[in-house]
Amino acid sequence: MSLIGVFDSGVGGLSVLDEALRQLPQHDYIYLADSANAPYGEKSSAWIAARSLVLCRYLASKGCDAIVVACNTATAEAIQQIRSELSIPIIGVEPGIKPAAMQSQNGIVGVLATEATLKSDKFNALLATLPPNCRFIKQAGAGLVPLIEAGKADSEEALDLLGKHLAPILDEGSDTLVLGCTHYPFLRKAIRKLLGDTITLIDTSDAVVRQLKRQLESLDQSGNSDDRGAVLFISSKNEISLLEMAKDLMSSDLNLHAIHSSLLGKVS
Ligand code: DGL
Repeated sequence: MSLIGVFDSGVGGLSVLDEALRQLPQHDYIYLADSANAPYGEKSSAWIAARSLVLCRYLASKGCDAIVVACNTATAEAIQQIRSELSIPIIGVEPGIKPAAMQSQNGIVGVLATEATLKSDKFNALLATLPPNCRFIKQAGAGLVPLIEAGKADSEEALDLLGKHLAPILDEGSDTLVLGCTHYPFLRKAIRKLLGDTITLIDTSDAVVRQLKRQLESLDQSGNSDDRGAVLFISSKNEISLLEMAKDLMSSDLNLHAIHSSLLGKVS
């Protein structure tokens, strides 16, 4: 059995933790939400890289055997540095533009992600590897993360803002939408309310957790999948609301796990 760190700027990475608990419930997890500093997506590359490195170092110091950087923005800006400094497996997430290109029928794909992700070299390098027969309509989801952090993913306010962000994607005729930020799977209901079933949604949590599973197998730390590990929720903002939000947003039954929560002290 392993201890796995899952890190995000806030509650978004809970979408990845949810999938991890589904596929790999036997492990222990530390979920670290830097909600005091969310959103990351509108901050500078240097700030995101430095902060992500500090928090991954913190998770490694707690004894994590592997870390999932469950944040597209932090992955885009910091994963190379994190990997070069830490000697444990580091699994990142990136917008699922490859699977989207394969699944799209008309070759027009919307990509909803943070401004920092869309501007990053890593994302643009990934885009450059794809054949030119698919067109990507990129849209920064400004303002969505703060609403999700405030527990308003299903509010009228979120619906309105989402409608504005999706308009250019729909106007271009996209049949597929990449959820390029780990917060956005929590907007699924709102997206369906606005668009019905007319668009295919691409979320990479499943692929990310399969990658984590392969890494753990190579460490020979698969564990017994009948067991249920513990989950520690740490927030830089307010641990009680993180736990409540986790219970609210996640579909996994957290009662099956030993749950703890704490507030992140000063880290540097
Ligand atoms: N959940 C994050 C992502 O996947 C970051 C959102 C943010 O803090 O702006 O990009």
